[in-house]
Amino acid sequence: MAKRIVIASGKGGVGKSTLSSALAKALALQNRVLLVDCDPGLNALSLIFGKTEVLFSWADVFAERCELSEAAVPVTERLTLLPAPTNAEETDVSAVKEILKDADVTYDYMLFDAPSGVGGGLARAAAAADSAIVIATAETLSVRGAAKAAGTLSDKGISDLKLLINRYSVKDAKKGRLMTIDDVMNETLLQLLGVVPEDEGLVGGALPDAASPAGLAVSRVSLRLEGKNIPFRLSFIK
Ligand SMILES: Nc1ncnc2c1ncn2[C@@H]1O[C@H](COP(=O)(O)OP(=O)(O)O)[C@@H](O)[C@H]1O
Ligand SMILES: [Mg+2]
Repeated sequence: MAKRIVIASGKGGVGKSTLSSALAKALALQNRVLLVDCDPGLNALSLIFGKTEVLFSWADVFAERCELSEAAVPVTERLTLLPAPTNAEETDVSAVKEILKDADVTYDYMLFDAPSGVGGGLARAAAAADSAIVIATAETLSVRGAAKAAGTLSDKGISDLKLLINRYSVKDAKKGRLMTIDDVMNETLLQLLGVVPEDEGLVGGALPDAASPAGLAVSRVSLRLEGKNIPFRLSFIK
């Protein structure tokens, strides 16, 4: 059985597309990974991976305009991207789930990069998933959004929910500019999967360098997802 993970947040711009891409890439070092862009219109993941000459999306597969294999774009040896349509308002909430119902034999992991907010786009991504990673930065609005997204996901039957804190800085938390990790955990009541530091090199849709602090944090998260016992260490976060 493939592990099917939706990556969600209440608030936009907290790093869902960046971290789902980086995480998919890290998991694909050892596993067959399908990364599904569930945020119609923006095609952020196609941009991140430089696959802008995209022909088909999951909506075309659902409407039987093409096969899944025609819409899926190879990125690396084990990483495949399934692009989003330019507009998904007309597409059924079960579309993504439906087209991937037989894909367990092809992939070990399916990651669903959800749109921000708790609307129909999240419902479509959540329907396809059996667990969730909720991303928040350590700021009040983002944390509230994460708690709301987590509530929506558990209403939809996803009970395996984990928290990934992004853009963290110990220095800023000490100065009171960010919440502490404890406070974020207390507000969301979610189990912590990892903390990714603020990385100045990450501008405009870049992926973190594997050796950078953010890249190393993502690789530790991917090992935790694979069931390895990786201790939490904040010493590398400034
Ligand atoms: N750890 C990080 N450090 C610095 N910038 C980041 C980090 N993670 C994401 N970003 C930046 O934040 C912006 C929004 O990220 P994005 O992944 O598009 O968010 P979302 O998909 O949640 O809307 C992008 O410019 C991205 O480069
Ligand atoms: Mg995004």
